[in-house]
Amino acid sequence: MYEIVKKQELGDSINQIEIYAPLVARKALAGQFVILRIHEEGERIPVTIADFDRAEGTITCVFQVVGRTTKELATFKEGECLKDFVGPLGVPSHIEKYGRVACVGGGVGVAPVHPIARALKEAGNEVISIIGARNKDLIFWEDRMRAASSELRVTTDDGSYVRKGFVTDLLKELIEEKGIDLCLAIGPLPMMRAVCDLTKKYGIKTIVSINTLMVDGTGMCGCCRVTVGGETKFACVDGPEFDGHQVDFAEMARRSVIYKKQEKISLDMYEEKGPKSHQCRCGGAE
Ligand code: FES
Repeated sequence: MYEIVKKQELGDSINQIEIYAPLVARKALAGQFVILRIHEEGERIPVTIADFDRAEGTITCVFQVVGRTTKELATFKEGECLKDFVGPLGVPSHIEKYGRVACVGGGVGVAPVHPIARALKEAGNEVISIIGARNKDLIFWEDRMRAASSELRVTTDDGSYVRKGFVTDLLKELIEEKGIDLCLAIGPLPMMRAVCDLTKKYGIKTIVSINTLMVDGTGMCGCCRVTVGGETKFACVDGPEFDGHQVDFAEMARRSVIYKKQEKISLDMYEEKGPKSHQCRCGGAE
């Protein structure tokens, strides 16, 4: 059983949980993810590792409530347990000294950017992080990102915090102000696509971390397939990071909504019936 040792609400429907999983924490590296199941009847969902503490044996994950599973997960309290917590999965981020690196995080994508920015800074890079969200209530981990970076720039779509604009506006300014050697972008699909469209014009290598539908997470089911440079890749074992200029974002966008109807039915059923009892989902008596 994987106990939630700490839980914190970070903002509007965004939650941070620390899970006791010492074997996962021992091996975890920046850029990797886990697949978790909240209880026996739960679906398997991939969640990117936002932080890890090898001494404490914990993994930190940040998630936003978007569907049935995340809605139920948000009801879990400290001391409750997840049924499965498998990882670390995926290829770790390639960390080396590039020079000046822009780490761009949009929305909940700020969380997975965090360990990568920190590792890049530790490798001697000048890391300029750009984080953005729709509004002030969705900005989180400003302090952590500032510590993990050489410099942090913040923006909100509606201008309710720091400044008004998209992460791409800040990225364009940064590129024209001092130039960058590499860009890493994690966030909603349209954001990553917009970042790649921008950096392509300047010829700047750009890495994106993609969050596709997943089932097994070990390259068996094909659920996470994505076309990169005209070839089929599996996000779970070949990624989750890819050269953003090679990713077929249009296909990804189409595939990301194929179960929308079923997801809505599942959420409606959950809202009608309510969560299982806490004891039951921890494996105890109902
Ligand atoms: Fe099944 Fe990647 S999740 S192949």
